[in-house]
Amino acid sequence: MTGIHKVGIVGAGQMGAGIAEVCARASLDVLVCETDPERVDAARSRVSGSLGRALRKGKLTHEIHDRAIAHLDYTDDLAGMADRDLVIEAVVEDHHEKAELFAALDKVVRSDALLASNTSSIAIINLGMATGRADRVVGVHFFNPVPVMPLVEIVTSLKTSPETVETITDFVASALGKQVITSTDRAGFVVNALLVPYLLSAIRMLESGFASARDIDAGMRLGCAHPMGPLELVDLIGLDTTAAIAESMYEEFKEPHLAPPALLLRMVKAQQLGRKSGRGFFEYA
Ligand code: CAA
Repeated sequence: MTGIHKVGIVGAGQMGAGIAEVCARASLDVLVCETDPERVDAARSRVSGSLGRALRKGKLTHEIHDRAIAHLDYTDDLAGMADRDLVIEAVVEDHHEKAELFAALDKVVRSDALLASNTSSIAIINLGMATGRADRVVGVHFFNPVPVMPLVEIVTSLKTSPETVETITDFVASALGKQVITSTDRAGFVVNALLVPYLLSAIRMLESGFASARDIDAGMRLGCAHPMGPLELVDLIGLDTTAAIAESMYEEFKEPHLAPPALLLRMVKAQQLGRKSGRGFFEYA
C-alpha cells in the first residue's frame, strides 16, 4: 500500500495520456487536466482510443477496459487537483511553463501530497524551488509508448526527501508494475544522457549526407537489433521534444555534441514534428 489512490495528471499529450492510461489500468482514481478547455476532448479521445485499441487487440478484457474508463475523469480546472495524493505533470518540455505550473499546483494541491514531473531533462530542483514543498517534489520519467515500456526513472533533487523517494518508488513499482531506476538531478538523467547523443549523431549523419535516413535506421535495426532506427525513434519521441531535451543538456554540459543540429531545428520550425504531425524524418499516414 503506497497511500496513493487519487492521481492527477496535468497535460495529456502522448506521454500524459499514456501515464493516465497506465494509472487507470491499475484501478487508481485518475483526474486528467488540460487547462486549455479545447484540449480536454482530445485528451479523452487519446486515452479512450488507446484503451479501445488494447481491447480490440485482445490485450484487455471488457471488464478491465470498462473499469479503467470508469476510473478516469477529465477537467480544464487545475483546482480539481486539490484532493489528489499525487499529481504528475506532463506538459510541454519548457522550463518556464513547468516552473509556473508547479507554483500554481503548490497553491491548490493538498500540502502533504506529492508533486512529480515527467520531464525528460529539466532540473527537478528548479521545479521544487518553485513550490513551498521541494521535499515532496520528484521526477518520474516514463518512456514512450508508456503502456509498453517497462522503465520509469525516479529523479531526486537535492531537496527531495527520502520518504518521498520511498513512497514514489513503491507506487511506481507496486501499483503501476514498472521497473524503477534512480538518477540524480542531472540533465538527461540516465537514459537520455546515453540516448540523446546517439539520436543527435544520427541526425548529423543525415545532415552531412553521410547516408540516407532509411539506411541509417536499417543499420541500427538490422545491425544492432534495435527495435527502431534512431530517426524513426526521434519521430516517435517528437522532434520538438528531442530538440528541447538537447537544449537542456547543452545548457547544462556545454558540450558541442549535445547542441541540437541545425536540421533538427529547421524541421521543428517547419512543424515537421514526427508521428504526431504526420511527418518527420519519415511520413506517416
Ligand atoms: N500504446 C500501447 N501499446 C502500443 C503502442 C502504444 N502507443 N505502440 C505499440 N504498442 C504495443 C503493440 O500493441 C504491440 O503489443 P503486442 O505485442 O502485445 O501486440 C507491441 O507494442 C508492439 O507493437 P507493434 O507490433 O505495433 O510494433 P513494434 O513491434 O514495431 O513495436 C514499439 C513498437 C513498442 C514502439 C517498438 O518499436 C519499440 O520498442 N521501439 C523503441 C521505443 C523506445 O525506445 N522508446 C523510448 C523512447 S525514449 C523516451 O521515451 C524518453 C524520452 O524522454 C525521450
